[in-house]
Amino acid sequence: MIETVEAQLRANPRRWLVTGVAGFIGSHLAEQLLALGQEVVGLDNFETGTHANLEALVRGAVARGAADADDRLHVIEADVRDFDGVLAACEGVDHVLHHAAVASVPRTIAEPLDAFAVNVDGTFNVLEAARQAGARSLVHASSSAVYGDCPGEPETGAQLEQRIGRPLSPYAAHKHVAEVLGLATTRSFGLPVAALRYFNIVGARQDPNGAYAAVIPKWVALLAKGEQPAIFGDGLNTRDFCPVEDVVQANLLAATWPERASADQRERPGDPSEAVFNVGLGGRTTLLELYEMIHAGMVELGAPCEGLAPRHEDPRAGDIVHSRADISRAREQLGYAPRRSMQAALRATMKWLLNPS
Ligand SMILES: NC(=O)c1ccc[n+]([C@@H]2O[C@H](COP(=O)([O-])OP(=O)(O)OC[C@H]3O[C@@H](n4cnc5c(N)ncnc54)[C@H](O)[C@@H]3O)[C@@H](O)[C@H]2O)c1
Repeated sequence: MIETVEAQLRANPRRWLVTGVAGFIGSHLAEQLLALGQEVVGLDNFETGTHANLEALVRGAVARGAADADDRLHVIEADVRDFDGVLAACEGVDHVLHHAAVASVPRTIAEPLDAFAVNVDGTFNVLEAARQAGARSLVHASSSAVYGDCPGEPETGAQLEQRIGRPLSPYAAHKHVAEVLGLATTRSFGLPVAALRYFNIVGARQDPNGAYAAVIPKWVALLAKGEQPAIFGDGLNTRDFCPVEDVVQANLLAATWPERASADQRERPGDPSEAVFNVGLGGRTTLLELYEMIHAGMVELGAPCEGLAPRHEDPRAGDIVHSRADISRAREQLGYAPRRSMQAALRATMKWLLNPS
């Protein structure tokens, strides 16, 4: 399915707004869109995103044959809390991929007012601006965090979109509220909005620095220096790690889904979770297993970390214990089919972190 969508986009290029374009996931979305010949407006306030990511995404698109990528990327430095700035960015846009956010659970606990304003008010601004500007569809980044204390299905522990638990952090609550706002926007104004619940995303350009760094880049950066990483808790927590390339795939499929879906599918009343999709691989990896994979990979790549074991610290507030995606709905409705293994994504991430380019 994704190959067909990509061919259609190449044949008839469109204009896309990517919020959070200078961040980890946003930069991969923009790179792929540019590689497919699309026009991309990128909005960011550079809170955690970087100009280096913008340069890298353009280089990536050029390396994939899009020599004019730079001319088709229009970066706007703006804040999603500023409605007028977002509305201006939406002008003439066909599809919006909303990824600007305070994306760290601990940061939403440490800075609750700011985080709420960005994640909830900011998302509402993007929904409303996209609607006013007449966009054809909007996809926004939700999170597996919305499952909270829901244990998943009894047999597999996998999470199904229909059943969520109570939120364990402000971040989880923000993402859930954002989903509800998206569903109301579709119901009341007709703008197709899809929320993608990402599990743990792996890939190059995820920031390894600072107190709020995600586990993979943080561990790789420490092992590269021969320093000991910390595992919060006993290391038996599990995660579903998903390559960023598959997140890109899910975004393209979800943004164009309203064009492929039947009127019946588009307007299905009743079940508010219909436009919400898990995005993961459906795998289950403990943090200890993750550590072993990264450690072995780093030793192979020549890092000075042979024999280095992790230390354990107290479990962190707001962390989910087990998290695994059931991706049946995304497969069946969107045609999502992951193309990359977690191991391949991990390896690419380690190489990039050792030699960013
Ligand atoms: N990385 C993951 O594993 C993961 C998992 C689940 C959900 N998500 C969601 O995916 C989205 C992207 O996450 P990411 O990992 O790329 O994070 P990131 O921090 O790398 O990217 C977020 C981008 O948004 C920008 N931004 C932050 N506040 C802004 C504001 N007020 N106005 C404009 N721009 C702003 C940042 O500068 C950054 O470039 C987020 O919504 C996040 O919650 C990510």
